[in-house]
Amino acid sequence: MRDNKTILAEKLASLLDGQGVSLTAAEAVGLFETPADPKLGDLALPCFKLAKLLRSAPPKIASDLVGAFAGTAGISKVEAVGGYLNFFYDGASAVSAVDEILQNERFGSSDEGNGKTVCLDFSSPNIAKRFHLGHLGTTVIGNALRNLFDFHGYRTVAINHLGDWGTQFGKLIYAYQNWSSQEKLEQGGITELEKLYVRFCTAEKEDPSLTQAARDAFHRLECGDEECLRIWKTFKDISLPEYQKTYDLLGITFDSYVGEAFFSDKMPAVVEELREKGLLELDDGASVVRLDEEGMPPCLILKRDGSTLYPARDIAAAIWRKKTYDFEKCIYVTSAGQSLHFAQWFRVVRKMGYDWADGLVHVPYGTMSVGGEKLASRTGNVVLLEDLLSEAIRKCEQVIAEKHPDLPNREETAKAVGVGAVVFNALSNSRIKDSDFNWEDALSFEGNAGPYVQYTYARTSSILRKNGGLPPASPAGYAPCAEETALAKKLSEFPEAVDRAIEAYEPSVISRYLLAVCALFNQFYHNCRILGADAEDARDFRVRLSAATRTVIGNGLDLLGIRRTEEI
Ligand code: ARG
Repeated sequence: MRDNKTILAEKLASLLDGQGVSLTAAEAVGLFETPADPKLGDLALPCFKLAKLLRSAPPKIASDLVGAFAGTAGISKVEAVGGYLNFFYDGASAVSAVDEILQNERFGSSDEGNGKTVCLDFSSPNIAKRFHLGHLGTTVIGNALRNLFDFHGYRTVAINHLGDWGTQFGKLIYAYQNWSSQEKLEQGGITELEKLYVRFCTAEKEDPSLTQAARDAFHRLECGDEECLRIWKTFKDISLPEYQKTYDLLGITFDSYVGEAFFSDKMPAVVEELREKGLLELDDGASVVRLDEEGMPPCLILKRDGSTLYPARDIAAAIWRKKTYDFEKCIYVTSAGQSLHFAQWFRVVRKMGYDWADGLVHVPYGTMSVGGEKLASRTGNVVLLEDLLSEAIRKCEQVIAEKHPDLPNREETAKAVGVGAVVFNALSNSRIKDSDFNWEDALSFEGNAGPYVQYTYARTSSILRKNGGLPPASPAGYAPCAEETALAKKLSEFPEAVDRAIEAYEPSVISRYLLAVCALFNQFYHNCRILGADAEDARDFRVRLSAATRTVIGNGLDLLGIRRTEEI
């Protein structure tokens, strides 16, 4: 079944065609918008863009078109107001919107991406450190983007580009050889590694010669020194199971853990290629690619001692991924602090003559803090992700114990809601904004928070359970009330929200959209009797509307990477 917007867009395209202006279906759809104020209608056509094409004034175009749209199926009223045409949907559209949603459990999905591959590089921690709050953004934004692209039919490759190479490992090797032992490492695990790193950084301040010692150690590692490689491998073996615990809790999986180290033997060829293409220049002993024309500082490829640098490894990885996966897009989710790094090496790939550089996308996000505290791993003063998550679970357990003491699976539910609260919070603001984590806001069952969405979802499930399932068909000729119409219309906008989230690489479009759905559902829930409705047709439609809400919220939660909770 086609929705009202498509029907109106097709009509507009054929009307314009009659006047010698031809538009594609997508262009025609793009001319419509949803008025911010529902009093102005359910859909509007601003005529300003048409003014140029038709060489006429917007208000005149609007008043000329009114008649042509009158009587369109699904539309009860069309009004010309200034340069706008405003459309009001009739009750039948609410009913057909609900019918359409209930026909498709994956409502909102599409096959637009079939045959195309998107690589997503996210989470990608620097090993030998536990996850802290700073990793939350990349991990959950990346996962949500992956789900969104999956939902649109793309083949996605989730890549954990482990930061397992670089001078910091020289520091750790030095620290290990001088201040630690195999035994201490086995006992202390990742905590011992963190301690060693902090100790090195402190000692380095006193004794600058350590900087060189660490560089030398890394250089030995890069040259394949067996002892260094053995120590380095221990760092990796200790770190990965730590990360896995957090990924399991978050329900996140990766298709590849190919990190920076994997590219170490692929570096010489890339450096050679840069040299052959005349891009490499010496700058104070280091090898760089100049980006003066682009107004950027030079991109660093090799250090004086010939060791490769972070950008060089990213270039090698991108070339390898293109060969291996033939991606349409390769998306990198990192903190905004790395924006220059990505802008620089994307340009270098372009200068190497690779057109596919246009498919490289950096998705930056702002900093997160807890109670206004910034995080710095160098000082050892960090908010650990595992602490944040377990605290959230603990607090949810308390709330659930009070609200619903005899809930079966209380522990599992607290886990789903606690983790969901943290994830939703991290995905609820425009990603680029800095944000502060606040327990009360994040854990609210009433406010704009994850638990509120999961609770609303559970409410829709409970309605269906109590009704004994879904009434098979919408009652013929049912005339929905204002609350029902507003909710049904919002639900029908889910596919657009998915489109917008994908276009802008912005999962918060989905979280905000879900909050709007929940607000409308709860208004409907409080103002209309559902199971206790006076008439059978009202009851049937309302249960179906609740089921459609369940489909949409459920799909939205899936996209954000938050578990559905059937009962809270
Ligand atoms: N390991 C880096 C960090 O923790 C992030 C890596 C992002 N991905 C990349 N291909 N550079 O800051």
